[in-house]
Amino acid sequence: MADFTPANWRHVDDYLATTLLDDDPAVTAARAASLAAGLPPIDVTPLTGKFLNLLVRMTRARRVLEVGTLGGHSTIWLARAIPRDGRVVTLELEQKHADVARANLERAGVSEQVEIVVGRAADTLPRIAARGDEPFDLVFIDADKQSGSVYLDWAIRIGHPGTVIVLDNVVRAGEVANPGSNDPMVIGTWRALEFLGSDPRVDATALQTVGSKGWDGMAIAVVVEN
Ligand code: SAH
Ligand code: DHB
Ligand code: MG
Repeated sequence: MADFTPANWRHVDDYLATTLLDDDPAVTAARAASLAAGLPPIDVTPLTGKFLNLLVRMTRARRVLEVGTLGGHSTIWLARAIPRDGRVVTLELEQKHADVARANLERAGVSEQVEIVVGRAADTLPRIAARGDEPFDLVFIDADKQSGSVYLDWAIRIGHPGTVIVLDNVVRAGEVANPGSNDPMVIGTWRALEFLGSDPRVDATALQTVGSKGWDGMAIAVVVEN
């Protein structure tokens, strides 16, 4: 069991989830419905969903922005963590994904606190910024990896000092540290990480993860000024 193999990472994730997480019919049903509808199995794991849920609670975030809804699995965890008067706005390109997510959010009982905005996030983010609503307290960026730096810039602009930003999938099985990569997702990740490392409006770090989704990681940042 001491080998660093994907099967063992999965085994440990199963152990941790069994030990730490409650039975969760809404999450189980949402994941099953998303798979049945043909959505790709690239949603957060329940352990990572719970991590996002705890982060929202630890920061007492009330307004949460998500970029990349898919079937709404991560959205459920975010929405469960906000207070009654809170809101999750989640951005999704594909109408079909948004439809599956809407049904999953309804089944999970969080639908009233979640707004799904369909369209390219690069187009919908400026529209959301122009609404002039209260700033977002926490932003989870998990859409097309090519555009991470664009989404980070919007997250800063529609956040406030103290806003927490999480950027998913920044390690990509180690490819992020392969300077010869020409994968557009890796190149987009470099741009996003270089942005986080150099923009004075944010302070950031990144964590590598292994688990049932393999070897990946997330960057985490806080807005210091905007
Ligand atoms: N956060 C989800 C997983 C998101 S997968 C979860 O963990 O449960 C990435 C999603 O981003 C997909 O549904 C994809 O359709 C969407 N996406 C891709 N490009 C996008 C874009 N330009 N604007 C908005 N959403 C996009
Ligand atoms: C991919 C996207 C994700 O958001 C993720 O968590 C894992 C993989 C992908 O597009 O390959
Ligand atoms: Mg992801």
